[in-house]
Amino acid sequence: MLTIPARSTVRSSPVESNRIILSPIDPADGPELWTAVDNSRWHLERWLPWVPFNNSAEASQRYAEACAQDWDAGRAVRMAIRSKKDRELLGVVGLDSVVHLHRSCELGYWLKREACGNGLMTEAAKACVGFAFDTLAAHRIRCAAATENYASLRVIMRLGFRFEGIARQAEYVGGRWVDHAVFSQLTTDRSSEEAEAS
Ligand SMILES: CC(C)(COP(=O)(O)OP(=O)(O)OC[C@H]1O[C@@H](n2cnc3c(N)ncnc32)[C@H](O)[C@@H]1OP(=O)(O)O)[C@@H](O)C(=O)NCCC(=O)NCCS
Repeated sequence: MLTIPARSTVRSSPVESNRIILSPIDPADGPELWTAVDNSRWHLERWLPWVPFNNSAEASQRYAEACAQDWDAGRAVRMAIRSKKDRELLGVVGLDSVVHLHRSCELGYWLKREACGNGLMTEAAKACVGFAFDTLAAHRIRCAAATENYASLRVIMRLGFRFEGIARQAEYVGGRWVDHAVFSQLTTDRSSEEAEAS
């Protein structure tokens, strides 16, 4: 089983790194999520198939409420990325497709347009991966990106994920089928990489 701490525990003691904090998405985040998605629509909808369906403040509110329910039921762990400086919501990083039996999950993320280009997603995703292995006791994390989503592929590579293969026409997004490059990281990869570095 994965060990998912209570949402209230992580909200009162969020995951922190240098410039950002990650805290479980809560219904109170709905309005800010809507603003972030709606203002970055063209930037997000090329790669994220859910964006056209997130078409009203009510839809964002329902998403925020579903995130809270999914966390409480152990189905998914999705966190708002906020700037440490002013608590501004910058994006989302999360673990979906949680399978307790196999201690596995899938990493996903997005940043609003103006937050991109500063390495913030590398920082947020690294913190989320650390949370998955160290707190949730995950064994395997999968991550996939469209073969032409170069910014996302760079993030995945920098986090030390290993390439597994291509999933053909894995998603219909932005009016076309996209192939996915599929990667994974195992908890045992981490220990071998740390050993190699020392
Ligand atoms: C993926 C995403 C979160 C990355 O955010 P970020 O870390 O701020 O990304 P950056 O802009 O710093 O780019 C990350 C890397 O990709 C590189 N990159 C960015 N755009 C690129 C492009 N068009 N071609 C090649 N490389 C590119 C950057 O140079 C950087 O590499 P470096 O640090 O080695 O120089 C952000 O682009 C995003 O939200 N995209 C839309 C949603 C999305 O694609 N989510 C992931 C779905 S799998």
